[in-house]
Amino acid sequence: MSKLWGGRFQEEADARFARYNESFSFDQRLFSVDVRGSLAYAEAIAEAGILDEQELHQIQEGLRALLERGASDAAWLTAGVAAGAEDVHSFVESELFKLIGSVAHKLHTGRSRNDQVATDVRLFVREAIDAIDAQLVSLQRALLDVAEANVDTPMPGYTHLQKAQPVLFGHFLMAYVEMFARDLERFRDARRRTNRLPLGSGALAGNNHAIDRGALAKALGFEEITYNSMDAVSDRDFVIETLAAASLVMIHLSRLSEDLILYTSNEFGFVEMSDKVSTGSSLMPQKKNPDALELIRGKTGRVVGHQMALLTVTKGLPLCYNKDLQEDKEPLFDTVDTVIESLAVMEIVIRGLKVRREKMLAAASRGYLNATEVADYLVRKGMPFRKAHEVVGQIVVLGLQQGKEIGDLPLDVFRSYSPLFEEDIFVAVSLEATLAGKDVHGGTAPHRVKESILRARSRIS
Ligand code: ARG
Repeated sequence: MSKLWGGRFQEEADARFARYNESFSFDQRLFSVDVRGSLAYAEAIAEAGILDEQELHQIQEGLRALLERGASDAAWLTAGVAAGAEDVHSFVESELFKLIGSVAHKLHTGRSRNDQVATDVRLFVREAIDAIDAQLVSLQRALLDVAEANVDTPMPGYTHLQKAQPVLFGHFLMAYVEMFARDLERFRDARRRTNRLPLGSGALAGNNHAIDRGALAKALGFEEITYNSMDAVSDRDFVIETLAAASLVMIHLSRLSEDLILYTSNEFGFVEMSDKVSTGSSLMPQKKNPDALELIRGKTGRVVGHQMALLTVTKGLPLCYNKDLQEDKEPLFDTVDTVIESLAVMEIVIRGLKVRREKMLAAASRGYLNATEVADYLVRKGMPFRKAHEVVGQIVVLGLQQGKEIGDLPLDVFRSYSPLFEEDIFVAVSLEATLAGKDVHGGTAPHRVKESILRARSRIS
């Protein structure tokens, strides 16, 4: 396949280098945004007097035909790789030439692959963010539905993975809704900076043909244009920001996976995963493994690695465009695919979760999760908290020695530690009172959790 830059060269490229240099095997993924960018650019240079009416029409017809073929004929793109296309931009140009002849060669006037690829990647990222956005909303809906159904299911809350205080399972799930809501904000914020048009920056210095960049931006749905051509062709901040948001959403998915993997284990038994997202063992007939969650946790490593790769690729680059930047694409594409698939799989896991209410309830009822309530009870009766903490510590030691929960000790035992204890201590240490007591915004009291579910629902609707 002929090169876009052959004139200055007298020797053929080394075959091995040509393979090393080509990006069409992966940047064909930009095919449709590339052609759409060219459709808009053709208008811009026609407006600037480079194309007459008929030439513009020919180019537009040709590009539309390519767009259609690209959408239906994957083998055509694969064949392009085999035929040695250097990148998506050269492929489109040479295919357009095959269709409409030499007028195709007017299209690249004033444009460089540098501002072209920067535009393509921004269009791609913008669409990818919108797809991730939709998945994030959908996963939040699933979490909200399961949280709502479990708004009165108590479970142990943990710190240091040791039983701490009881919470509602709905409250636990809502913690992740909050994380995913922040992820959504981050992607939407990155989208604002992505949605600026670099086209018209040329190779690095600008465009000689007085094209209307504002109109071009409008035609391609960009909110703004970029204001420095040197920056515009070498800026990949928007990719890195997107990968950073992607790393965080994967980290949240990974933490949720880890929690649920623990909770599906026999030792916890709080939830069971649907067969639809579990696998068995080739050897041990009894096994049901949470592979979906383990894969999400594992794929987090890839995405974090991609972010690190791109930070490293860009760190020492002089202005302006350098071929290093071709290395932005594979990490970006893989990240987008991984995030979308992971969010979708997590949604299936969440919707299919069987909640073992009795197991959670039993676990929340044992293990001194109400010790803090006893201290607060004494505080309400006038004892300084530090002293109350000490007293309750001693009561817990006694309970441990006798194999009894706090609520199982008789009143006279309580009173041997402090005369402040009265009959109402038994209500105060009940699971219901313990939960209901956390009656602040963001607390686990049942009506507060319902409140936060409503707030989250209105936020995403
Ligand atoms: N394939 C290249 C990339 O992805 C396109 C830009 C090439 N520009 C150039 N001057 N060689 O970055």
